[in-house]
Amino acid sequence: MQNLQAIILAAGKATRFNSERNKLFEKICGKKMILYATQLLEHLNIPTTVIVGYQKEIMQKTITDYHHNRINFSIQEDQCGTGQALICSRDNWHAEHILIMNGDIPLVTNEVIEKLYKKHIASKAAISFVTAHSSNNSYGRVIKTNNSIKIVETRDFKGDIHEQCCINAGIYIAKKNFLTEHVDIIKQNKISKEFYITDLIGIASKKNLPITTTTAPFDQIRGINTFEELWAAEQIKRAELIKYWMNQGVRFSFAQNIHIDLTVSIGAGSFVGCGVQLLGNTKIGKNCTIHSFSILDNTILGDQALIRSHSVIENSRVDAQTQVGPFAHVRENTHIKSHATIGSFVETKNSTISHYSKAKHLTYLGDTTVGSHVNIGAGTITCNYNGVKKEKTTIEDNVFIGSNNSLIAPLTIHKNAYTAAGSVITDNVPPNSLAIARARQINKDGYSQKIPTAQSSEKKSAKNKEKIEFAVTEYKDNASSFIAATLLTPEELNEES
Ligand code: UD1
Ligand code: CA
Repeated sequence: MQNLQAIILAAGKATRFNSERNKLFEKICGKKMILYATQLLEHLNIPTTVIVGYQKEIMQKTITDYHHNRINFSIQEDQCGTGQALICSRDNWHAEHILIMNGDIPLVTNEVIEKLYKKHIASKAAISFVTAHSSNNSYGRVIKTNNSIKIVETRDFKGDIHEQCCINAGIYIAKKNFLTEHVDIIKQNKISKEFYITDLIGIASKKNLPITTTTAPFDQIRGINTFEELWAAEQIKRAELIKYWMNQGVRFSFAQNIHIDLTVSIGAGSFVGCGVQLLGNTKIGKNCTIHSFSILDNTILGDQALIRSHSVIENSRVDAQTQVGPFAHVRENTHIKSHATIGSFVETKNSTISHYSKAKHLTYLGDTTVGSHVNIGAGTITCNYNGVKKEKTTIEDNVFIGSNNSLIAPLTIHKNAYTAAGSVITDNVPPNSLAIARARQINKDGYSQKIPTAQSSEKKSAKNKEKIEFAVTEYKDNASSFIAATLLTPEELNEES
């Protein structure tokens, strides 16, 4: 598209959102709304200026971070309407034709812009704009008569607005000369006190200057003024993405319940269950299965991985033929290598779990390197934090960690070693050995006969009686000899018998 530059109107306050946050930062399938407009124009190779105002520093940073320095900015200090915003960009008008676009219409396609440009050039119009059809009353109405055309905003419209369903999409191309000569004629609207860009159409019409319009499907030009409209637009984008991945060979169960970000990719033959969310730069391999309500964020999943329901995996790599979940939490910087298993209620962070290793139940692995063919018993935790500093645990190949171990880092458990169930392992374990680190069990013969009863306790002094009664109640309530034994000294127990 020759001799064309673009201006994006993005300075508005978005009062209809009832939120302090700028609506243009709201995400649709993981991408901020304003970046839909800027990326579209960059993709079409049209040099772009964005008019910023409300929360302008954050807006400039958001755009610059994404596009580096390829986008210019103009500033509208006070938000006095779309017409006034356009005037604020005047110093940046260089090309012969200027495309002006609202910043809040994220679903616009290349074709909408290309069609408008072609017709604008072919018809030598002073100004051209895109129309659509909708009865939604938050759009300006395009009123055509035999020899005039104008745009009337809803609040200025007299009569039944639903009779008039040709709407203004908020995308215009004007000759620079037309703009230079006419923007200052725009009058302040009496009711809203704003200056409307849309008045330019009536101004051109009154002067009998050529005006053209093109039509676009309403879904491609939806404006986002409320959270409800944001939701509707995201539904459309999501459905587009899901249809795309279906055509690439992905099966979705309950597709209406699944969320996929734009940046996600999914291999053919994979299955995505109900309520799954695939976020950020997640890349799913071929023939993977992701069961209901799992969330994968910035995660790379190898082929044939099985993610059972309710698992959360973030900023991690999970290789081919692994199994994760249900209810697993794989946190940042975890690498689960092929054929490994991370089971239910297992949390990992900053850890590598090598080939064929298993941590199947109720485990925490933090700052840990697990070799291959390792078995980690239920209820094991790495104690990686001493309140000040994170420490590392290394578990070498073929190690067997018994159930309910506390592994106090820094720690290395060398190849082929075993640890006994219930151990608190504080020291390195040499290869091929068994570490037992727990109190030895003592069985007290005849203990139950020595337990005091309520009757016998009546004979005792007042002080002892109170103590014994308490012990007996606790003992019965807890069905445990532990409390009775700790409250009564051995002498007291002997007295009782
Ligand atoms: C605008 C059009 C309406 C059209 C609709 C299409 C006007 C007066 N009306 O209405 O005919 O049907 O878009 O979606 O233009 N902005 C500024 N500075 C301001 C005010 C707004 O930069 O002072 C920016 C906003 O950030 C937004 C865009 O202009 O990106 C449109 O503003 P908005 O208030 O949403 O206009 P609508 O009421 O939707
Ligand atoms: Ca709007």
